[in-house]
Amino acid sequence: MSAEKEGDTLCFFINGKKVTVSHAEPETTLLSFLREELRLTGTKYGCGGGGCGACTVMVSRYQPATKTITHYSANACLLPLCQLHGAAVTTVEGVGSTRTRIHPVQERIAKAHGSQCGFCSPGMVMSIYTLLRNRPQPAMDDITHALQGNLCRCTGYRPIIDGCRTFCQEADCCQANGAGDCCLDGEETLEETQREKPELFDKREFLPLDPTQELIFPPELILWAERAPPQTLTFRGERMMWVSPASLEELVQLKTRNPEAPLVMGNTNIGPDIKFKGVLHPLIISPTRVLDLFEVTQTPHGVWVGAGCSLTEVRSLLEKLLPQFPEEKTEVFRALSQQLGNVGSLQIRNVASLGGNIMSAYPNSDLNPVLAAGNCKVSVISNGGKREVPLNRDFFVSFGKTILKPEEIVVSVFIPFSRKIE
Ligand code: FES
Ligand code: FES
Repeated sequence: MSAEKEGDTLCFFINGKKVTVSHAEPETTLLSFLREELRLTGTKYGCGGGGCGACTVMVSRYQPATKTITHYSANACLLPLCQLHGAAVTTVEGVGSTRTRIHPVQERIAKAHGSQCGFCSPGMVMSIYTLLRNRPQPAMDDITHALQGNLCRCTGYRPIIDGCRTFCQEADCCQANGAGDCCLDGEETLEETQREKPELFDKREFLPLDPTQELIFPPELILWAERAPPQTLTFRGERMMWVSPASLEELVQLKTRNPEAPLVMGNTNIGPDIKFKGVLHPLIISPTRVLDLFEVTQTPHGVWVGAGCSLTEVRSLLEKLLPQFPEEKTEVFRALSQQLGNVGSLQIRNVASLGGNIMSAYPNSDLNPVLAAGNCKVSVISNGGKREVPLNRDFFVSFGKTILKPEEIVVSVFIPFSRKIE
Protein backbone atom coordinates (compact mmCIF):
# COMPACT_ATOMS: atom_id res chain seq x y z
CA MET A 1 0.00 0.00 0.00
CA SER A 2 2.84 2.36 -0.67
CA ALA A 3 2.28 5.75 -2.14
CA GLU A 4 3.43 6.18 -5.70
CA LYS A 5 4.44 9.43 -7.34
CA GLU A 6 1.37 9.54 -9.53
CA GLY A 7 -1.00 8.29 -6.86
CA ASP A 8 -1.57 5.54 -4.33
CA THR A 9 -2.15 1.90 -5.06
CA LEU A 10 -5.65 0.79 -4.24
CA CYS A 11 -5.75 -2.37 -2.17
CA PHE A 12 -8.67 -4.45 -0.98
CA PHE A 13 -9.84 -8.08 -0.85
CA ILE A 14 -12.47 -9.87 -2.89
CA ASN A 15 -13.65 -13.27 -1.68
CA GLY A 16 -10.51 -13.69 0.44
CA LYS A 17 -8.07 -12.76 -2.36
CA LYS A 18 -5.98 -9.61 -2.35
CA VAL A 19 -6.58 -7.19 -5.22
CA THR A 20 -4.31 -4.25 -6.00
CA VAL A 21 -5.00 -1.60 -8.60
CA SER A 22 -2.19 0.78 -9.37
CA HIS A 23 -4.17 3.29 -11.42
CA ALA A 24 -7.66 3.22 -9.97
CA GLU A 25 -10.09 5.25 -12.03
CA PRO A 26 -12.47 7.21 -9.75
CA GLU A 27 -15.34 6.63 -12.17
CA THR A 28 -15.06 2.84 -11.94
CA THR A 29 -17.68 1.15 -9.82
CA LEU A 30 -17.19 -2.14 -8.02
CA LEU A 31 -19.80 -3.72 -10.29
CA SER A 32 -17.99 -2.94 -13.52
CA PHE A 33 -14.69 -4.03 -11.96
CA LEU A 34 -16.17 -7.36 -10.85
CA ARG A 35 -17.88 -8.12 -14.13
CA GLU A 36 -15.48 -6.65 -16.68
CA GLU A 37 -12.06 -6.97 -15.04
CA LEU A 38 -12.39 -10.02 -12.82
CA ARG A 39 -15.14 -11.75 -14.82
CA LEU A 40 -17.05 -12.42 -11.61
CA THR A 41 -20.42 -12.21 -13.33
CA GLY A 42 -22.50 -13.66 -10.51
CA THR A 43 -23.15 -10.10 -9.32
CA LYS A 44 -25.77 -8.85 -11.74
CA TYR A 45 -26.27 -5.53 -13.50
CA GLY A 46 -29.95 -4.63 -13.24
CA CYS A 47 -30.81 -0.96 -13.00
CA GLY A 48 -27.27 0.33 -12.44
CA GLY A 49 -28.59 3.05 -10.14
CA GLY A 50 -29.14 1.49 -6.72
CA GLY A 51 -32.79 0.59 -7.28
CA CYS A 52 -33.05 -3.17 -7.77
CA GLY A 53 -30.50 -4.91 -5.53
CA ALA A 54 -29.34 -7.37 -8.25
CA CYS A 55 -25.77 -6.19 -7.65
CA THR A 56 -25.80 -6.64 -3.86
CA VAL A 57 -22.47 -7.58 -2.27
CA MET A 58 -21.27 -7.68 1.32
CA VAL A 59 -18.62 -5.16 2.39
CA SER A 60 -16.64 -5.83 5.57
CA ARG A 61 -14.40 -3.37 7.36
CA TYR A 62 -12.25 -3.44 10.44
CA GLN A 63 -12.72 -0.53 12.86
CA PRO A 64 -9.46 0.02 14.77
CA ALA A 65 -11.16 2.28 17.36
CA THR A 66 -13.51 -0.47 18.54
CA LYS A 67 -11.48 -3.43 17.25
CA THR A 68 -14.59 -4.79 15.58
CA ILE A 69 -15.43 -5.99 12.10
CA THR A 70 -18.60 -4.67 10.50
CA HIS A 71 -20.44 -6.33 7.63
CA TYR A 72 -23.02 -4.52 5.53
CA SER A 73 -24.82 -5.05 2.24
CA ALA A 74 -24.24 -2.53 -0.53
CA ASN A 75 -25.11 -1.96 -4.17
CA ALA A 76 -21.96 -2.65 -6.21
CA CYS A 77 -23.31 -0.50 -9.06
CA LEU A 78 -22.89 2.63 -6.93
CA LEU A 79 -19.80 1.70 -4.93
CA PRO A 80 -16.77 3.54 -6.28
CA LEU A 81 -13.79 1.22 -6.44
CA CYS A 82 -11.65 3.90 -4.75
CA GLN A 83 -13.95 3.77 -1.71
CA LEU A 84 -12.93 0.16 -1.06
CA HIS A 85 -9.35 0.74 0.02
CA GLY A 86 -8.79 -1.49 3.06
CA ALA A 87 -12.16 -3.28 2.77
CA ALA A 88 -13.05 -6.92 2.16
CA VAL A 89 -15.79 -7.61 -0.37
CA THR A 90 -17.76 -10.84 -0.57
CA THR A 91 -19.66 -11.61 -3.74
CA VAL A 92 -21.98 -14.50 -4.45
CA GLU A 93 -19.02 -16.47 -5.85
CA GLY A 94 -17.38 -16.26 -2.41
CA VAL A 95 -20.46 -17.59 -0.67
CA GLY A 96 -20.99 -20.93 -2.39
CA SER A 97 -21.11 -22.69 -5.71
CA THR A 98 -22.51 -25.85 -7.26
CA ARG A 99 -18.92 -26.71 -8.20
CA THR A 100 -17.82 -26.77 -4.56
CA ARG A 101 -20.52 -26.48 -1.97
CA ILE A 102 -23.60 -24.33 -2.09
CA HIS A 103 -24.34 -22.17 0.90
CA PRO A 104 -27.41 -22.85 3.06
CA VAL A 105 -28.93 -19.55 1.86
CA GLN A 106 -28.60 -20.65 -1.76
CA GLU A 107 -29.93 -24.11 -1.00
CA ARG A 108 -32.97 -22.89 0.87
CA ILE A 109 -33.98 -20.27 -1.72
CA ALA A 110 -33.60 -22.89 -4.45
CA LYS A 111 -35.50 -25.64 -2.62
CA ALA A 112 -38.30 -23.26 -1.70
CA HIS A 113 -38.66 -22.51 -5.45
CA GLY A 114 -37.51 -18.96 -4.81
CA SER A 115 -35.72 -18.59 -8.11
CA GLN A 116 -37.10 -18.64 -11.64
CA CYS A 117 -35.06 -16.66 -14.15
CA GLY A 118 -32.50 -16.31 -11.35
CA PHE A 119 -31.49 -12.76 -12.18
CA CYS A 120 -32.36 -11.40 -8.76
CA SER A 121 -31.19 -14.49 -6.89
CA PRO A 122 -27.50 -13.57 -6.28
CA GLY A 123 -28.62 -10.24 -4.82
CA MET A 124 -31.24 -11.93 -2.64
CA VAL A 125 -28.63 -14.44 -1.47
CA MET A 126 -26.15 -11.68 -0.60
CA SER A 127 -28.73 -9.66 1.34
CA ILE A 128 -29.67 -12.67 3.49
CA TYR A 129 -26.05 -13.86 3.73
CA THR A 130 -25.05 -10.44 5.13
CA LEU A 131 -27.93 -10.53 7.58
CA LEU A 132 -26.85 -13.97 8.82
CA ARG A 133 -23.24 -12.84 9.21
CA ASN A 134 -24.53 -10.16 11.59
CA ARG A 135 -27.37 -12.17 13.12
CA PRO A 136 -27.22 -15.96 12.66
CA GLN A 137 -30.65 -16.40 14.28
CA PRO A 138 -32.73 -13.62 12.75
CA ALA A 139 -36.32 -12.71 13.45
CA MET A 140 -38.87 -12.63 10.63
CA ASP A 141 -38.73 -8.82 10.61
CA ASP A 142 -34.99 -8.99 10.00
CA ILE A 143 -35.57 -11.13 6.90
CA THR A 144 -38.12 -8.78 5.34
CA HIS A 145 -36.00 -5.78 6.32
CA ALA A 146 -32.91 -7.33 4.69
CA LEU A 147 -34.79 -7.96 1.43
CA GLN A 148 -36.34 -4.48 1.20
CA GLY A 149 -33.91 -3.41 -1.49
CA ASN A 150 -34.13 -6.54 -3.67
CA LEU A 151 -36.64 -6.64 -6.49
CA CYS A 152 -37.82 -9.84 -8.17
CA ARG A 153 -39.78 -9.52 -11.38
CA CYS A 154 -40.85 -13.12 -11.88
CA THR A 155 -40.85 -15.43 -8.86
CA GLY A 156 -42.70 -13.22 -6.46
CA TYR A 157 -41.51 -12.82 -2.92
CA ARG A 158 -43.45 -15.53 -1.10
CA PRO A 159 -41.22 -18.51 -2.05
CA ILE A 160 -38.08 -16.46 -1.40
CA ILE A 161 -39.35 -15.52 2.05
CA ASP A 162 -40.43 -19.15 2.66
CA GLY A 163 -36.90 -20.36 2.08
CA CYS A 164 -35.28 -17.58 4.12
CA ARG A 165 -37.66 -17.81 7.07
CA THR A 166 -36.28 -21.27 7.83
CA PHE A 167 -33.30 -19.49 9.39
CA CYS A 168 -35.63 -17.93 11.98
CA GLN A 169 -35.96 -19.54 15.36
CA GLU A 170 -39.28 -17.99 16.20
CA ALA A 171 -42.55 -19.55 15.05
CA ASP A 172 -44.55 -16.36 14.72
CA CYS A 173 -46.92 -17.62 12.09
CA CYS A 174 -48.02 -20.92 10.55
CA GLN A 175 -45.59 -20.23 7.67
CA ALA A 176 -42.75 -21.00 9.99
CA ASN A 177 -43.34 -24.66 9.16
CA GLY A 178 -42.17 -23.98 5.61
CA ALA A 179 -45.31 -25.43 4.06
CA GLY A 180 -45.99 -22.32 2.02
CA ASP A 181 -49.49 -21.71 3.38
CA CYS A 182 -50.18 -18.88 5.73
CA CYS A 183 -52.73 -18.11 8.41
CA LEU A 184 -52.83 -14.65 6.89
CA ASP A 185 -54.24 -16.01 3.65
CA GLY A 186 -57.77 -16.16 5.01
CA GLU A 187 -60.06 -18.71 6.58
CA GLU A 188 -59.99 -22.27 5.34
CA THR A 189 -63.01 -24.51 4.95
CA LEU A 190 -63.09 -27.71 6.99
CA GLU A 191 -62.55 -29.71 3.79
CA GLU A 192 -59.46 -27.64 2.93
CA THR A 193 -58.10 -28.04 6.42
CA GLN A 194 -58.44 -31.80 6.28
CA ARG A 195 -56.90 -32.18 2.83
CA GLU A 196 -53.30 -33.24 2.97
CA LYS A 197 -50.95 -30.37 2.08
CA PRO A 198 -47.84 -31.30 0.10
CA GLU A 199 -44.76 -29.53 1.41
CA LEU A 200 -42.32 -28.00 -1.05
CA PHE A 201 -39.33 -28.90 1.02
CA ASP A 202 -38.31 -30.85 4.06
CA LYS A 203 -36.46 -28.63 6.49
CA ARG A 204 -34.70 -31.63 8.00
CA GLU A 205 -32.75 -32.07 4.75
CA PHE A 206 -31.31 -28.58 4.78
CA LEU A 207 -27.62 -27.94 5.27
CA PRO A 208 -27.14 -26.42 8.69
CA LEU A 209 -25.94 -22.84 8.92
CA ASP A 210 -22.45 -22.99 10.38
CA PRO A 211 -20.96 -19.50 10.92
CA THR A 212 -17.51 -21.04 11.56
CA GLN A 213 -17.35 -22.08 7.90
CA GLU A 214 -17.66 -18.54 6.50
CA LEU A 215 -14.76 -16.61 4.94
CA ILE A 216 -12.79 -14.85 7.65
CA PHE A 217 -11.88 -11.18 7.50
CA PRO A 218 -8.34 -10.94 6.06
CA PRO A 219 -5.87 -10.62 8.99
CA GLU A 220 -3.64 -8.51 6.73
CA LEU A 221 -6.29 -5.80 6.62
CA ILE A 222 -6.53 -5.78 10.42
CA LEU A 223 -2.76 -5.34 10.73
CA TRP A 224 -2.78 -2.64 8.10
CA ALA A 225 -5.64 -0.74 9.77
CA GLU A 226 -3.86 -0.93 13.13
CA ARG A 227 -0.46 0.16 11.86
CA ALA A 228 -0.89 2.32 8.78
CA PRO A 229 0.01 5.95 9.47
CA PRO A 230 -2.91 8.29 8.76
CA GLN A 231 -2.07 9.88 5.45
CA THR A 232 -3.95 11.31 2.52
CA LEU A 233 -4.80 8.84 -0.21
CA THR A 234 -4.90 9.96 -3.82
CA PHE A 235 -6.16 7.93 -6.75
CA ARG A 236 -5.65 9.52 -10.13
CA GLY A 237 -7.73 8.55 -13.12
CA GLU A 238 -7.65 9.88 -16.64
CA ARG A 239 -10.41 12.43 -16.12
CA MET A 240 -10.90 12.53 -12.38
CA MET A 241 -8.90 12.51 -9.19
CA TRP A 242 -10.06 10.98 -5.91
CA VAL A 243 -8.60 12.35 -2.67
CA SER A 244 -9.30 10.87 0.74
CA PRO A 245 -7.91 13.12 3.51
CA ALA A 246 -6.98 11.61 6.87
CA SER A 247 -7.91 14.54 9.15
CA LEU A 248 -10.50 17.29 9.47
CA GLU A 249 -7.85 20.00 9.06
CA GLU A 250 -6.75 18.46 5.80
CA LEU A 251 -10.35 18.14 4.64
CA VAL A 252 -11.00 21.83 5.39
CA GLN A 253 -7.89 22.91 3.45
CA LEU A 254 -8.82 20.70 0.53
CA LYS A 255 -12.35 22.09 0.40
CA THR A 256 -11.07 25.66 0.73
CA ARG A 257 -8.82 25.17 -2.29
CA ASN A 258 -11.50 23.26 -4.22
CA PRO A 259 -14.90 24.60 -3.11
CA GLU A 260 -16.71 23.05 -6.08
CA ALA A 261 -15.38 19.53 -5.49
CA PRO A 262 -18.16 17.30 -4.13
CA LEU A 263 -17.78 15.31 -0.91
CA VAL A 264 -18.66 11.69 -1.61
CA MET A 265 -19.58 9.21 1.11
CA GLY A 266 -22.14 6.70 -0.20
CA ASN A 267 -22.07 7.95 -3.80
CA THR A 268 -25.84 7.53 -3.96
CA ASN A 269 -26.33 11.05 -5.30
CA ILE A 270 -23.15 11.97 -7.16
CA GLY A 271 -22.76 8.43 -8.61
CA PRO A 272 -25.99 8.40 -10.64
CA ASP A 273 -25.24 11.95 -11.87
CA ILE A 274 -21.85 10.84 -13.17
CA LYS A 275 -23.24 7.65 -14.65
CA PHE A 276 -26.52 8.72 -16.16
CA LYS A 277 -26.09 12.46 -16.74
CA GLY A 278 -22.42 12.47 -17.72
CA VAL A 279 -21.53 14.99 -14.99
CA LEU A 280 -17.76 15.33 -14.70
CA HIS A 281 -16.05 16.24 -11.42
CA PRO A 282 -12.30 16.72 -11.94
CA LEU A 283 -11.82 16.22 -8.19
CA ILE A 284 -13.80 14.13 -5.75
CA ILE A 285 -13.18 14.42 -2.01
CA SER A 286 -13.92 11.30 0.00
CA PRO A 287 -14.03 12.11 3.74
CA THR A 288 -14.69 8.55 4.93
CA ARG A 289 -11.45 8.46 6.95
CA VAL A 290 -12.06 11.71 8.84
CA LEU A 291 -12.98 10.44 12.31
CA ASP A 292 -14.53 13.75 13.45
CA LEU A 293 -17.37 13.12 11.00
CA PHE A 294 -18.37 9.96 12.88
CA GLU A 295 -18.43 11.26 16.45
CA VAL A 296 -21.58 11.00 18.54
CA THR A 297 -21.95 13.28 21.58
CA GLN A 298 -24.85 13.33 23.98
CA THR A 299 -25.77 16.61 25.72
CA PRO A 300 -28.52 17.49 28.22
CA HIS A 301 -30.51 18.89 25.28
CA GLY A 302 -30.10 16.19 22.66
CA VAL A 303 -27.47 14.39 20.64
CA TRP A 304 -24.88 15.52 18.10
CA VAL A 305 -24.46 12.89 15.38
CA GLY A 306 -21.49 12.91 13.03
CA ALA A 307 -22.50 13.86 9.48
CA GLY A 308 -20.52 10.91 8.11
CA CYS A 309 -22.58 8.29 9.97
CA SER A 310 -24.56 6.12 7.60
CA LEU A 311 -28.35 6.26 7.75
CA THR A 312 -28.32 2.71 9.14
CA GLU A 313 -25.94 3.79 11.92
CA VAL A 314 -28.12 6.79 12.74
CA ARG A 315 -31.20 4.57 13.00
CA SER A 316 -29.41 2.08 15.26
CA LEU A 317 -28.20 4.92 17.46
CA LEU A 318 -31.69 6.39 17.80
CA GLU A 319 -33.19 3.00 18.58
CA LYS A 320 -30.57 2.45 21.25
CA LEU A 321 -31.33 5.86 22.80
CA LEU A 322 -35.13 5.57 22.68
CA PRO A 323 -35.61 3.29 25.72
CA GLN A 324 -33.20 5.40 27.79
CA PHE A 325 -35.44 8.48 27.94
CA PRO A 326 -39.09 9.26 28.72
CA GLU A 327 -41.36 9.24 25.69
CA GLU A 328 -42.00 12.98 25.71
CA LYS A 329 -38.28 13.64 25.23
CA THR A 330 -37.87 11.37 22.22
CA GLU A 331 -40.60 12.49 19.80
CA VAL A 332 -38.01 13.71 17.26
CA PHE A 333 -35.90 10.57 17.70
CA ARG A 334 -38.92 8.39 17.00
CA ALA A 335 -40.12 10.40 14.00
CA LEU A 336 -36.61 10.34 12.56
CA SER A 337 -36.17 6.63 13.16
CA GLN A 338 -39.48 5.94 11.44
CA GLN A 339 -38.55 8.14 8.48
CA LEU A 340 -35.16 6.45 8.24
CA GLY A 341 -36.98 3.18 7.62
CA ASN A 342 -38.61 4.77 4.55
CA VAL A 343 -35.57 6.35 2.91
CA GLY A 344 -34.11 4.22 0.12
CA SER A 345 -33.35 0.54 0.56
CA LEU A 346 -31.20 -1.09 3.23
CA GLN A 347 -28.27 -1.25 0.79
CA ILE A 348 -28.57 2.51 0.21
CA ARG A 349 -28.99 3.33 3.91
CA ASN A 350 -25.90 1.28 4.71
CA VAL A 351 -23.71 3.62 2.68
CA ALA A 352 -25.57 6.95 2.40
CA SER A 353 -24.54 9.42 5.10
CA LEU A 354 -26.62 11.72 7.28
CA GLY A 355 -24.73 14.80 6.04
CA GLY A 356 -25.05 13.67 2.43
CA ASN A 357 -28.77 13.20 2.83
CA ILE A 358 -29.14 16.77 4.12
CA MET A 359 -26.81 18.30 1.53
CA SER A 360 -28.66 16.57 -1.33
CA ALA A 361 -31.10 19.31 -0.34
CA TYR A 362 -34.51 17.91 -1.11
CA PRO A 363 -36.53 20.16 1.21
CA ASN A 364 -39.70 18.10 0.93
CA SER A 365 -38.35 14.57 1.14
CA ASP A 366 -35.69 12.31 2.65
CA LEU A 367 -34.99 13.26 6.28
CA ASN A 368 -35.23 17.01 5.78
CA PRO A 369 -38.91 17.64 6.64
CA VAL A 370 -38.50 15.71 9.92
CA LEU A 371 -35.20 17.41 10.75
CA ALA A 372 -36.75 20.82 10.08
CA ALA A 373 -39.92 20.08 12.08
CA GLY A 374 -37.77 18.75 14.92
CA ASN A 375 -35.69 21.98 15.21
CA CYS A 376 -32.48 20.21 14.30
CA LYS A 377 -29.36 22.14 13.34
CA VAL A 378 -26.01 21.48 11.69
CA SER A 379 -22.51 22.34 12.78
CA VAL A 380 -20.37 23.42 9.83
CA ILE A 381 -16.70 24.18 9.48
CA SER A 382 -14.56 26.05 6.97
CA ASN A 383 -11.28 27.94 6.94
CA GLY A 384 -13.18 30.82 8.55
CA GLY A 385 -14.12 28.76 11.61
CA LYS A 386 -17.16 26.88 12.90
CA ARG A 387 -20.80 27.89 13.05
CA GLU A 388 -24.17 26.35 13.76
CA VAL A 389 -26.99 26.71 11.25
CA PRO A 390 -30.66 25.86 11.97
CA LEU A 391 -32.12 23.26 9.62
CA ASN A 392 -35.26 25.25 8.96
CA ARG A 393 -36.93 26.26 5.71
CA ASP A 394 -34.38 29.06 5.19
CA PHE A 395 -31.66 26.40 5.02
CA PHE A 396 -32.93 25.18 1.65
CA VAL A 397 -32.66 27.87 -1.00
CA SER A 398 -34.07 25.64 -3.74
CA PHE A 399 -33.97 21.99 -4.80
CA GLY A 400 -30.38 20.84 -4.55
CA LYS A 401 -29.17 24.11 -2.99
CA THR A 402 -28.64 25.23 0.61
CA ILE A 403 -27.51 28.49 2.23
CA LEU A 404 -24.13 26.99 3.12
CA LYS A 405 -21.09 28.39 1.34
CA PRO A 406 -19.45 25.99 -1.15
CA GLU A 407 -16.36 25.64 1.06
CA GLU A 408 -18.35 24.82 4.22
CA ILE A 409 -18.46 21.24 5.45
CA VAL A 410 -21.23 19.76 7.62
CA VAL A 411 -19.46 18.10 10.54
CA SER A 412 -22.40 17.01 12.67
CA VAL A 413 -26.14 17.26 13.10
CA PHE A 414 -27.90 18.10 16.36
CA ILE A 415 -31.09 16.20 17.10
CA PRO A 416 -32.78 17.78 20.12
CA PHE A 417 -34.91 16.16 22.79
CA SER A 418 -38.54 17.07 22.44
CA ARG A 419 -40.48 18.79 25.23
CA LYS A 420 -43.82 17.85 26.68
CA ILE A 421 -46.56 20.15 25.39
CA GLU A 422 -48.44 21.43 28.48
S1 FES B 1 -27.90 -2.90 -10.52
FE1 FES B 1 -29.78 -2.33 -9.57
S2 FES B 1 -29.14 -1.73 -7.59
FE2 FES B 1 -27.29 -2.12 -8.61
S1 FES C 1 -36.22 -14.94 -10.20
FE1 FES C 1 -36.44 -13.72 -11.97
S2 FES C 1 -36.22 -11.71 -11.17
FE2 FES C 1 -36.33 -12.93 -9.43
